[in-house]
Amino acid sequence: MVNNKKIIIGNWKMNLNVQESSLYLHQLSKIVKTHRDVEVVLSPTTLTLQSLSLQVNLRQFKLAAQNFYWRDQGSYTGEVSATQLRGIVQYGLVGHSERRHIFGESDKDIRSKVEAAVRNHIRPVLCIGETAWERSNGETYDILHDQLIGGFANITSEELSRVVVAYEPVWAVGTGQNALPTYVSAAVSAIRNQIEHLYGKKASESIQVIYGGSVTPDSAADYLALPGVDGLLIGGASLNAHSFNEIIKKAHRGSAVVE
Ligand code: 13P
Repeated sequence: MVNNKKIIIGNWKMNLNVQESSLYLHQLSKIVKTHRDVEVVLSPTTLTLQSLSLQVNLRQFKLAAQNFYWRDQGSYTGEVSATQLRGIVQYGLVGHSERRHIFGESDKDIRSKVEAAVRNHIRPVLCIGETAWERSNGETYDILHDQLIGGFANITSEELSRVVVAYEPVWAVGTGQNALPTYVSAAVSAIRNQIEHLYGKKASESIQVIYGGSVTPDSAADYLALPGVDGLLIGGASLNAHSFNEIIKKAHRGSAVVE
């Protein structure tokens, strides 16, 4: 059962080519000990997903797409669909701040991608978070509210159990300026309150909410200790197998190693 596991996702973004990705996976698989209470997910560039899917031991790591198009097939030059990714990945990032802010993805695009992922048996990781400007204007909770409603508009409560929410304040992504744990805690409570409002108490307690933004091996444990934080979405620190493994180790709560 995935829902009582911590989820640690490494988002490699547009880094590592096919050979480097394969070598990285090889190195990581040698040092990471598999525990029942942690799900480790690797999110390489789309280019490498297929080859890594043949190399990966799914009992050790799952794979996530960083992005995909929401239609299943057709004349959409340059795009890759969730249907094409089905069976290759288990997770799909949706609405990452870089997709929203660099590539102009709208809540409608993001909602369609959440639906496409669910339709294709891929767990969507809906990324939400405020910019520095929105934060300084006191709009953080309004933004989280709007992005949640925008992303989940067509998702049923049964489908919600397969969804992950990643809280990634945009000002903390790739800046080295990680959010204070108290700040993350308040934002995650706001997210759960909003889910309760939309789907009820049970859903708000069981949905998995993770944090991302300049997490390092030194700061990981502070977030993982927060009630309501079910894991981490790691960018820069996931590009080094040793530092990523240090973060994974922080997520274990003493469960036995799975051989
Ligand atoms: P950094 O950990 O590099 O800040 O990136 C976070 C992120 O965007 C993960 O998706």
